[in-house]
Amino acid sequence: MPHVVKLTDVVKSYQLGKTHVPALQGISLEVGRGDFLAIGGPSGSGKSTLLNLIGSLDLPDSGIVSIAGQDLSQLNDNQLSALRAKRVGFIFQSFNLIPVLTAVENVEYPLLLSNTPNPRTRALEVLAHVGLTEFTKHRPNELSGGQRQRVAIARALVTKPDIILADEPTANLDSHTSEEILNLMLHLNQKDQATFIFSTHDPLVMDQARRLVRLKDGTVQEIRDL
Ligand SMILES: Nc1ncnc2c1ncn2[C@@H]1O[C@H](COP(=O)(O)OP(=O)(O)OP(=O)(O)O)[C@@H](O)[C@H]1O
Ligand SMILES: [Mg+2]
Repeated sequence: MPHVVKLTDVVKSYQLGKTHVPALQGISLEVGRGDFLAIGGPSGSGKSTLLNLIGSLDLPDSGIVSIAGQDLSQLNDNQLSALRAKRVGFIFQSFNLIPVLTAVENVEYPLLLSNTPNPRTRALEVLAHVGLTEFTKHRPNELSGGQRQRVAIARALVTKPDIILADEPTANLDSHTSEEILNLMLHLNQKDQATFIFSTHDPLVMDQARRLVRLKDGTVQEIRDL
């Protein structure tokens, strides 16, 4: 498998007042196309930081993050935005849906930003894909947690990214809904060969991953093929 994501000795720390908080302390990791990779580890171990760096929402202090063979530190802001818009889909823990927009408008939004033709048709297609055909006109507060998460997944997928990053995609969901969301992710992974990288605390979700990276104190404690 060619690598879609490669991290080489990535270090990241935060400055909190006078305190220096090390978040990642030399992470090296390769993720292949079509992978379904879970990032586990205790709270504060660096999972969200790692996802943010892969998604180029933040830059490392040192080390190299490359996406599809491109070293992110060599790209300017416009090139980074273009890369994000084209290749990366984000699913955030708190969904980050826009409350005043309906489900279909939320999903359509990234397409409008990138001037894609026929955004409505494409948004409806993807909503059907995640089983929300009947809910396209609902606003986020008119949807259940699982349905909101499906909208967030649809929005992440609508631009057909090759990499989907999800920060605890099932954290706010009951176990039944978590399983549904996970099955949906697996289905999309198998059908579209989309690469999924997601953080989780949930042992059930970890069990379904193809690979598991366990972080501890900002280092890779274990990489396991499942
Ligand atoms: N913006 C920030 N400013 C200062 N410190 C931060 C910031 N973001 C994260 N940290 C610190 O970096 C470390 C790693 O945080 P991170 O959010 O990546 O952990 P996590 O594994 O995602 O935890 P959780 O499971 O609780 O979501 C922690 O010690 C955290 O306190
Ligand atoms: Mg986190």
